[in-house]
Amino acid sequence: MIKAIRGMRDILPPETNRWQWVEAAAREVFELYGYREVRLPLIERTELFARSIGAETDIVAKEMYTFPDRHGDSLTLRPEATASVLRAVLEHGLDKGAGVKKYYTLGPMFRYERPQKGRYRQFYQINCEAYGVDAPELDAEVILLLLDILNRLQLGELRLLVNSLGCRDCQAHFKAALKNFLADKDGLCEDCRRRREANPLRVFDCKSPHCQAILADAPVLKDYLDEACAAHFARVLELLARHGVAYTEQPRLVRGLDYYTRTAFEVVAAGLGAQDAVAGGGRYNGLSRELGGPELPAIGFAIGEDRLLEVLPAALGQGQEFKVFLAALGEAARDRAFSLLQELRGQGLAAEMDFEGRSLKAQMSLADRLGAAYVVILGDRELETGVANLRPMRDFAYIQGEGVRLTEVAGGRMAVQQEEVPLDKLPEVLAQRLLGR
Ligand code: HAM
Repeated sequence: MIKAIRGMRDILPPETNRWQWVEAAAREVFELYGYREVRLPLIERTELFARSIGAETDIVAKEMYTFPDRHGDSLTLRPEATASVLRAVLEHGLDKGAGVKKYYTLGPMFRYERPQKGRYRQFYQINCEAYGVDAPELDAEVILLLLDILNRLQLGELRLLVNSLGCRDCQAHFKAALKNFLADKDGLCEDCRRRREANPLRVFDCKSPHCQAILADAPVLKDYLDEACAAHFARVLELLARHGVAYTEQPRLVRGLDYYTRTAFEVVAAGLGAQDAVAGGGRYNGLSRELGGPELPAIGFAIGEDRLLEVLPAALGQGQEFKVFLAALGEAARDRAFSLLQELRGQGLAAEMDFEGRSLKAQMSLADRLGAAYVVILGDRELETGVANLRPMRDFAYIQGEGVRLTEVAGGRMAVQQEEVPLDKLPEVLAQRLLGR
């Protein structure tokens, strides 16, 4: 048997219900904040990512799925969406006009990383990108939007880590100081010795405990922010505090991609082990220029959907299905049931029947397996009298309010009686029982 590739997994029902639920919540919040969806290709020119994310980053140096197409052009499966969204924004002139331009996109990303809990080679992100405004209010708004999505999902213990990477000028001063600090550090690993020369900021990505120990005394970005960058960051923090957001300043947070300037942030969740970042983002004011576009301030984030699903409370988003099963006995009853099935679906009710002429007992156990809330038995007698028995399969209580759903009554069982319903009233009665209308 052919199996899925290592690090790439199938996401199957009922887990897919939870994914849909998460995505629906994210879309709802994005709409509240004025974001519109973009859907982009999964493949781009390699150059786009190499220039955006940075040659010295792990992503570009080690993790991209890069291949020549039939013409010999170098193409890459997108390792992230920020570069692609900006490419599309510039290509279609979406950056033009006043105000903040706001876009979101959902979908798979590809990185050739060592698979482990919370780390896959095909993983999914919920991306948010905003363009055109450098004001700290936008930074605060983007972070509040991210937290709004996460809070809706009732995730447990989350921590927001924030830092400012300053503008490119601040970064140049900081890098010089860092390089200076690292100059006489003999114990650095081979990667870090290379990074020290090529792009010293990237030494902070190193996982080696030895390099980490050396870095404990390294200079911090905060001390190299110019007045404007420091004031920008202070205002972001002030706005977060004013909205009751608890954050932790993390002076060594540099993020794993080169394009960041000024505000950078991550949300980490307890219970995820080593791969604990469920979301990350920040400003990238210089990227448009670096890609040959106009001056275009920008900020965004990506939520790692796979990781988010791992910390989503098990009871949420199960997508309680309230099915009606039509158990039909005999040719004529099956014929009638087939039409009734479509009428029920026309009312918005999920309905199923058996097409294989099974026994009543077999149909009842199928109904049970499908999680049917009601079974309607149709035989010659029902066709003759025009009345059928509506048979509740579970002890359900109908809860109105938070959308429509059925919940099993905790503890005490609700006695639900069978009731007789005229066949032509069935769709109406079932819609009332199951959908509350
Ligand atoms: P990132 O930090 O590389 O940022 O990825 C964002 C999130 O994607 C991570 O926090 C994590 O939850 C998830 N993620 C990353 N790699 C994997 C993996 N191999 N398996 C599972 N989940 C993973 C970016 O990608 C930036 N483009 C975010 C951004 C948007 N910055 C500005 N706009």
